[in-house]
Amino acid sequence: MDKSLTVDIEHLELGPHIGSGAFGTVHKASYLGIDVAVKVLTRAHHAAMGCAKDITHEVQVLRKLHHPNVVLLIGVADREDSVYIVEEFCVNGSLAQYLQKNQDISWETRLTIAIEIAQSLVYIHNKGILHRDLKSENVLMDKYFVCKICDFGLAQKISGSLRMSRNIGTPWWRAPEVDTSDHYTQSADVFSYGILLTEIITACSGEDIRLEMVDEKKTKGLNFVYDPEKLRAFISTYRPDCPADLLDLVISCCSINPTARSTMLAVLAKLRMILSQITVVADQLKASISDPDLISAFMSLSSRSGSTTTLAVTPAILLDFIAPKFVSAYRRLTDLENSYLLQLINSHAEDGFITAPAFNSIMEKIKNVETLLAKDNIQIQELFDRKVILGCIAKQEALDFVSSPEGQGSIILRFRSEMDKPDLIITGLSNNSVKNIVAIPHERFLVVGKDAYRSWKDLLDRLKADFGWDRFYPDIKFDSEELQPLFSEIFVYDGYAGDY
Ligand SMILES: Nc1ncnc2c1ncn2[C@@H]1O[C@H](COP(=O)(O)OP(=O)(O)O)[C@@H](O)[C@H]1O
Ligand SMILES: [Mg+2]
Repeated sequence: MDKSLTVDIEHLELGPHIGSGAFGTVHKASYLGIDVAVKVLTRAHHAAMGCAKDITHEVQVLRKLHHPNVVLLIGVADREDSVYIVEEFCVNGSLAQYLQKNQDISWETRLTIAIEIAQSLVYIHNKGILHRDLKSENVLMDKYFVCKICDFGLAQKISGSLRMSRNIGTPWWRAPEVDTSDHYTQSADVFSYGILLTEIITACSGEDIRLEMVDEKKTKGLNFVYDPEKLRAFISTYRPDCPADLLDLVISCCSINPTARSTMLAVLAKLRMILSQITVVADQLKASISDPDLISAFMSLSSRSGSTTTLAVTPAILLDFIAPKFVSAYRRLTDLENSYLLQLINSHAEDGFITAPAFNSIMEKIKNVETLLAKDNIQIQELFDRKVILGCIAKQEALDFVSSPEGQGSIILRFRSEMDKPDLIITGLSNNSVKNIVAIPHERFLVVGKDAYRSWKDLLDRLKADFGWDRFYPDIKFDSEELQPLFSEIFVYDGYAGDY
C-alpha cells in the first residue's frame, strides 16, 4: 500500500453511522480537524462474503482516480481486523436520498446531475475501468450539490483476456448481458446509467423502473425479457414534460444489444446539447415572461403540447394548469367557472395555440381575480354571456380601460357573496378622471359594459331582479339615499344618463 495514503487510526474520531451496503458500514468522522466519511470493512465479513478480491481493492482503484466527479480518497488505515477507507465527506448524502426529498427539481438541475455523473464515467472508462455498481445510492452530493460517484468495491479493470464475473452489481441496474455472459464491457455501465437517468427523471426506485421494462409476453419464469421501449411510456406518464431527446437517450442507453448503446462520451455530448437547448429557450422566454417560475411552467407545458421547438401551449393544457390554482381549500371550480376560464384562454389563442406573450398576459389577468373566482360564488358565465361582465381584469388594466375612449361610461364592479347572499360591491366608477379608482384598495375588478344596460339604474334593477342582489357593499341598499350622490356623479360625468 502506498505509504502516503496511510492514515493513523489515532487521528480518526468516528462519529455517527451514515450508511451501509453489502460490504461495510460508513461513518461520519473527524480527521485532523475536517469532516470525512469512513467506510469500515471488516476482514471477517469480507472473508464470509467469499470475496475473491483483496479487501483493499476499492482503495487500489480509488487511489488512481482524480476527478471532480469521483469521490476523493483521503487515505486508508489498514488494520489487523479491518480496513478504514477515509474519503471526503459529502454532506448532502446520496443522490438516492436527494431525489426522494426533491421530487420537483427543474430540468436544468436534472440535466446538470446527469452530466456530472456522465463526466465521471467518461473518465473512468477512459482509464479502462468499469464501475459495475452504478445507481443513485452510489452517487454522493457535496456541499455544493456537485455529484461524485463512489463505491468502487466492484469496479474492475478491463483487459482483453479477463473473463468477468457474472451477476455482479445490483440486479435492477444490471445490464442483461452481465447475467448471461462473462464478456461485457463499458457498455454494461451505460445500461446502468440509463436506469440511473430514469431515476433522475422520475425519482422512482430502480426496482420499479426495471420491472416496468419487463416484456411479460416473452418472459418465462424468472428469465425476464426486457423491452426498453416500455420505458418510454413509463417516463412519459411520470414526466409528460420530459424533453423528447432525453427520453430517446434513456431508451438508447438501455438497449438490450450492448453494441447499440452509445459510449459515455456520446451520451455526455448529447446531454450537453439538451441542456443548452433548454437554456437558450429560457433566455428567449425571459423577453416575454419575466417571472422565472412562469418561464419554467410555460416550458414544461409547452413540451407537453409536443412543441418543444416552437414553444406554445394548447388552451386545454393551459386550463389544466390554471384551474387547480383557483381551487380554494373549500371547493372546486364550477363548470361555469371552468368554461369562463377556457373562454378567457381561447380569446388569447392564435391558430389554436397560446404563445409566450399571450401566456404572460393571461397569467397577469388571472393573478388578481384568483380570490374572487375561488371564494366568491358568482355565476360568472351567465354574466359573461349577457355581456354584463366584459372580463375579469387586474387593477392596472382596469385603470387603462376606463381611461381609454371605449372604457368611458363603464362601471368597475367587484362582486362577492357571503353566506349564499350575493352582494354587489361598487369599487369604482369610470369617468375622465381615474382618481376615485386609484384610491380603491381592491385589486380585482369586473368591468361592466356601458352598452349592456340603458342606465346604471337599469343595470342595478336587473341585478336585483335576476340575481337577487339589492345591496352595495358595505350594506347600502340600492335605493337608499346614500347612493344618490354616486349616481348623480356618474350621470353628470359620462353624459349618458337619460339619453337612452
Ligand atoms: N463520502 C461519503 N460522504 C457521505 N456519505 C457517504 C460517503 N460514502 C458513503 N456514504 C453513504 O454511505 C452509503 C454506502 O456507501 P458505499 O460506499 O456505497 O458503500 P457500500 O459498498 O456499503 O454500498 C452511501 O450510499 C451514502 O449514503
Ligand atoms: Mg453502495
